Amino acid sequence: MLPIRVTQVPEAARRPKPDPDKLLFGHTFSDHMFLAEFTPEQGWHSARIEPYGELSLPPSTIALHYAQMIFEGMKAYRNEAGEVYLFRWRENAARFRRSAERLRIPPVEMSLFGEAIRRLVWLDRDWVPTALGSSLYIRPVIMATDKAIGMHASNNYLFFVICSPTASYFPKGFYSVSIRVSEEDVRAVQGGTGDVKCAGNYSGSLRALAEAKAKGFDQVLWLDAQERKYVEEVGSMNIFFKLDGTIITPPLSGTILPGVTRASVLELSAELGLPVEERLISIDEVMETLESGKMEEIFGAGTAVAIAPVGSLSHKGHCITVGNGSPGPTAMKLRERLLTLQRGETSDPYGWREQVLAPEFAPN
Ligand code: COI
Repeated sequence: MLPIRVTQVPEAARRPKPDPDKLLFGHTFSDHMFLAEFTPEQGWHSARIEPYGELSLPPSTIALHYAQMIFEGMKAYRNEAGEVYLFRWRENAARFRRSAERLRIPPVEMSLFGEAIRRLVWLDRDWVPTALGSSLYIRPVIMATDKAIGMHASNNYLFFVICSPTASYFPKGFYSVSIRVSEEDVRAVQGGTGDVKCAGNYSGSLRALAEAKAKGFDQVLWLDAQERKYVEEVGSMNIFFKLDGTIITPPLSGTILPGVTRASVLELSAELGLPVEERLISIDEVMETLESGKMEEIFGAGTAVAIAPVGSLSHKGHCITVGNGSPGPTAMKLRERLLTLQRGETSDPYGWREQVLAPEFAPN
């Protein structure tokens, strides 16, 4: 594995930590960042951790034009005893490699990815907030860096990782979010890039999100592009329904992001004794079962949001409250189990978490 050179911010120059009660998702960054470069001659090289700072890029940098750029979202958690944990990081590393393959980006070795994250989080461990529901959000990115705007797969790349202390993803804190179904725009098509984590997927979703927000909703629910009939995902989270005692989520049919939290929710639901089904669910079935009161709960799951209860759903101008609009008991139970497992406070029979230790004690 590549050696990682570390240049630490001197103790006296470290920035003050933000007030944990006033964290706004993705607005504050820790003291250090990880960087590595790829060239055809050297492959991935110059792996290093440096003080967090600006990137200097010419306007011709190709990623700025064609979004040949992938990213991941992961978190480090800290418990009251001061232990810091990563959660299923290998799943993020594997997805990062799949995203790279889809966008013709040279993939990063799993071992380099893991060591970059461990070392960075260890160095910035004081930036991991402790309150339940808080964490250090970790954002690995690869961007194409050829200084040429002809349309082509870049020859050169930059891999960087930055970290941001976070509490709730939603600015208003933890509450039941309201969701509007997108009628015009779609997020992904079969054969497209919906099942990988690339920048363009997110910019394409902004118009529908702006429209939803203008009408007072928090998020957008996407339908399939072909028939505009089946529920897909929310963009910032996968979606789950509790119907007749069963947890239902759309299958990974090629247009939905295979969320690490999604997979965890399916396993933890089974642990709670709830039957789970990955199946197509139409928006008509969702609205009808909501209307008839058969739909027990709706919630989303993703790294940034953890588990977010859905309080209302609006489709074609018809808005229905889910239950009484407050967070449902199953979503709350799953959230509690997930967060305490991630923080090292309850059992982990799955081997999902890894404690972040000083580099000399860390596993290879
Ligand atoms: C994540 O959940 O980590 C994501 O990348 C979603 C993003 C909208 C914040």
